[in-house]
Amino acid sequence: MVRLLINVDHVATLRQQRDTIYPDPVVAAGMCELAGADGVTIHLREDRRHAQERDVRILRQTVRGSLNLEMAVVPSIIDIAAQVVPEMCTLVPEKREERTTEGGLDVRGRGAEIGKAVRRLRDAGIEVSLFIDPDEESARVCADLGASQAELHTGDYCHAKVGSVAASRELARLERAGRIVVDNGLRLAAGHGLDYANVGPVAGLANLEEMSIGHAVIARAVLVGMERAVLDMRKAIDRGLHRAHRE
Ligand code: PXP
Repeated sequence: MVRLLINVDHVATLRQQRDTIYPDPVVAAGMCELAGADGVTIHLREDRRHAQERDVRILRQTVRGSLNLEMAVVPSIIDIAAQVVPEMCTLVPEKREERTTEGGLDVRGRGAEIGKAVRRLRDAGIEVSLFIDPDEESARVCADLGASQAELHTGDYCHAKVGSVAASRELARLERAGRIVVDNGLRLAAGHGLDYANVGPVAGLANLEEMSIGHAVIARAVLVGMERAVLDMRKAIDRGLHRAHRE
């Protein structure tokens, strides 16, 4: 069973677009959980372009499954996380000009800074996941930095056409990096860019425990409703798992 966490940032984006109090990502998160999601992910960015501190604080009280707070390695956000104490903090790189997270953390270049952030969060009783590119070197470094989970960036895999040679090549990279993560004693997660068509093979990665999916689910929910969007994703993941177990 792979846990499915729904990233509700896009609901907050829609709200911020008009400075209204709706749609509320807290309500969306509740609907995701009612539909069977195992938890909720939200990214509190330094520029507060979508999620607000209020969302994170209320979600802490309302999410019944796992609350995963995505954040940059920035002291002011780490302070908020230490007060809110989500089940998990996922450290990601963050740039002002990007539309969404681009690339994984520079776990080698920024190792000292990341390691310090991990310690601070773990001392506050929070598990830490590092969002990394699926390369062997990054996968190796995560354990040294004290993280308990690594989330592989699936963006390059998702850019490749479903079923193409490029997609198989990217999947093989994910497999190799995933094996190193697990061999080093960390839990394995994956996310970014996953949709209903490409999620299956990633769900089938050996020892994968968790996926965080936002854009595809929220986009489908706009058209067919949240319950159906979450259930459809759950089915796509389960089909991928089924296929992997048959092979
Ligand atoms: N995982 C991480 C670390 C992310 O930064 C994001 C995007 O916020 C996601 C997963 C979800 O990506 P998407 O919205 O493309 O499903």
